[in-house]
Formats: sequence, C-alpha cells, structure tokens
Amino acid sequence: MFIPNKKVFEDRREIFLKKLGGKAAIIPGANLVKHHADCEYPFRQESNFWYLTGFDEPDAIALFLSHKPKGERFILFVAPKDVTSEVWHGFRWGLEGAEKEFKADKAHSIQELQDLLPGYINGSDELVFSIGKHPLIEKIVLDIFSQQLEKRSRLGIGANSIKSPEIYLNEMRLIKSEFEIERMREAIQISAEAHELVRKSISFKSNERQIQGILEGFFLEKGARGPAYNSIVASGDNACILHYTQNNSPLNKGDLLLVDAGCSLIDYYNGDITRTIPIGGKFSEEQKAVYEIVLSAQKTSISSAVTGSNSSTVHNVALRVLVEGLKEIGLLIGSTDEIIENQSYRHLYMHRTGHWLGLDVHDVGAYRMGDYEVPLQNGMILTVEPGIYISDRISVPKGQPEIDEKWKGIGIRIEDDVLVKDKSPEVLSAAALKEISDIEF
Ligand code: GLY
Ligand code: MN
Ligand code: MN
Repeated sequence: MFIPNKKVFEDRREIFLKKLGGKAAIIPGANLVKHHADCEYPFRQESNFWYLTGFDEPDAIALFLSHKPKGERFILFVAPKDVTSEVWHGFRWGLEGAEKEFKADKAHSIQELQDLLPGYINGSDELVFSIGKHPLIEKIVLDIFSQQLEKRSRLGIGANSIKSPEIYLNEMRLIKSEFEIERMREAIQISAEAHELVRKSISFKSNERQIQGILEGFFLEKGARGPAYNSIVASGDNACILHYTQNNSPLNKGDLLLVDAGCSLIDYYNGDITRTIPIGGKFSEEQKAVYEIVLSAQKTSISSAVTGSNSSTVHNVALRVLVEGLKEIGLLIGSTDEIIENQSYRHLYMHRTGHWLGLDVHDVGAYRMGDYEVPLQNGMILTVEPGIYISDRISVPKGQPEIDEKWKGIGIRIEDDVLVKDKSPEVLSAAALKEISDIEF
C-alpha cells in the first residue's frame, strides 16, 4: 500500500488555503467508472484531489475551509470502513485512517455529505467548485448554493458566487517543486528505458501489439501504475494517424515504427516520450531525410525552451525548421513566411509542438492569457514533439506540390520531456536515444 509523503501534501494544502483567502473549496475525488457488466476501469484519482490529499480511494471529497480557524480547515468525506465490502473490493482507510494517516482535521462518511456540507460552508462569501466536471456532487453543491443565495438576499450572509479552483491550483501545479521534479525524473526515466528496450527487441517481434506488451510490461515491472495514456505503437502509414491506438498491425522491415508511450507512477506523475525507429534497423534515403528534418526541428526547439521564452516560441522555432526542411526535399514550395502565415504546411504537420507535463499528461496551466504569452519559468516541464506525417488523408493545399509516392507512409515524431532552466533546458528523457547513429543497427 502506497502512503505518500505527508509533508508534501500538507505544504500544498497550506499554500492553497492561503490562496483561497476566506473562501470554502469543495474538491471531489474520482469515482469508479463502469467498463462492462460488473467490471470497472482501473481507478484513477482526480488530479487536483490527489495533489492536495494523496488519498487514493474512490468516492471521497475534500473541503478546504479557509474561513475557519486553524484545525478546522481540512475536511475529508470518505467511504467508511465496511468489512463485507472490503472482502470484495479491498482495504479502505475509513474515517480514522483519513484523520490519522491523511491528516484531515475531521473525517466523515461520504453518506453524510449532503447533511453536513451547508454547515461547513456557512460563513464563506464565495464557494470554490469546478462546475461541469463532477455531475454526482454538482447537484448537491448547486442546491446548497441556491439556498445560500436566498439566505443572502434576506439576511445579508451566505455565499454569492462560485469560483473555479483551477485559478488557484493550475498556477501551483504548473511550477514543479523539487519533490515533483524528482518524481517526474523517475517517471520519465522508466519511460525512456522502455523505449530503449523496444529498440533492442524489435528484431525479434512481428506485430505492433507485441511492442505494446514490451512497453507496458516494463512499466509494471518497474513498479509504475501502467501506461500514462493509451500507448501508440504505429508502424508504417499508421504513424500518420496521430492518435492511433489499435496497435495490431504486422511489422514490415522496410517501415518505420513510431512509438508514443510513457508510464504513470503510483503517485500519478507521467512520462510522455515518442521515438521513431527503422524496423529493419536501417533508414531508407527518404525516411532518413525526413527524420533529419524532424530531429533538427526538435533540437532547435528544445534549445529555445529557456526561462523567459514561451510555448509559442518553442512551437514557432520548430515549425520554421520543419518548413525549411520540407522545402529542401521538395514537399513544400514558396516563401517560408508565407507558408507559415497561410498554414500551407498543415497537411504535413497538424499539431502543436508541445504541452505541459505533470500529474496530467496534458497538464494544467495557461499557455497564454489573451495576447499575453505566459513566460517559461524554472520548474516548468513541457514536451517538445514536432513531427512530419506524409499520407494522402489530407489534400494538398492549393499552390503546394502533389506528393510523390516514395514519401507516402512516412510518419515521424520525436518527443522529449524538458525541464525549463535558465540557460539550457534539461532533457529528462535523454536516456531514450534519438541520433540516427544510435538507433540504426
Ligand atoms: N501522448 C500524448 C501526447 O504526446 O500529447
Ligand atoms: Mn505529448
Ligand atoms: Mn506523446
């Protein structure tokens, strides 16, 4: 049983409570989700709830009552201990465990939520709750809120607005603490080693599904929870389908294999790495030309991910190198600026170059606020993942050349996980090799 580092969660709660400045926050955990008759998907705790509590059971809700005195501010509603249910579904911490191990000032059974919530919220002018995300509890919260509005109109006290917790928590989660950076290092290192194992085993494998087995078996062997997202194991033309997850085609020696996979640790920190390798061990001339463009775009883009830069710059730097390279091999024509301006590259590169990475794979936090670009800061972690996907699924834009058959079916993405630092960013996924001389065999 995993018992998280309590101090880490206490510190986060303290910061969150300070940010709340007198408001009452209701942060629900996740519920089990039915897969099919009598079977559920593996449980995945809600990230904000986890971030603040470290409590890994379904059917729990946390209250953060910054309008109350110290010692009455952190309340957990949890599933109570129940011997019969625990025989079927496993251990629960119950109310006592929630207070003793998870440091709740007070714990209650989740069944008491409806009755006790109004009393806890009383005295707060504003509620903090994420509308639209927790249908089971939202009705209870909105009923109480409407009663409070009614009360306010008559007595002048009661909550009169609901704010989103994301405005406080996204900001906290975007900058990773030293503790989080260490956890991310571990998630990313395991993910990188899995990619290495794939390359070393590929000669003995004949189907994408076997590669998925190698990756995910390795994640479990290393003690991770499993894959952070549905692993993408895409050979040949399948690599041009960005979210390909069927992973069930035979591997052909002359094709490339794009693998986008990362593990999720037991405390939910995630890796997200893509490597593209030649299945038979050697790139063809065309595959190599495209790979070199993507690799060059990726390296240039990574070097721009320094303090003070921003995610649009990281994207634009990669895009420019991709467009220049595609012009050199004749797949685009015209002025680079015009191609970028008119987006006439989008049949070959149709996604952004990266995203924040953390407890969520596409982690929380603003990239820009209107026209203002959020500057990169020490402690942010982002992916840098340019690619080129050559297929005839998207028609060639007017004025651009038709694609010769020899290029079709080449799909290449290279994705690393990067920690922002002042002078040079740190590539946390460097253990997964990507130089042509290292990946050919
Ligand atoms: N694997 C998801 C992504 O790269 O964004
Ligand atoms: Mn990614
Ligand atoms: Mn990815």
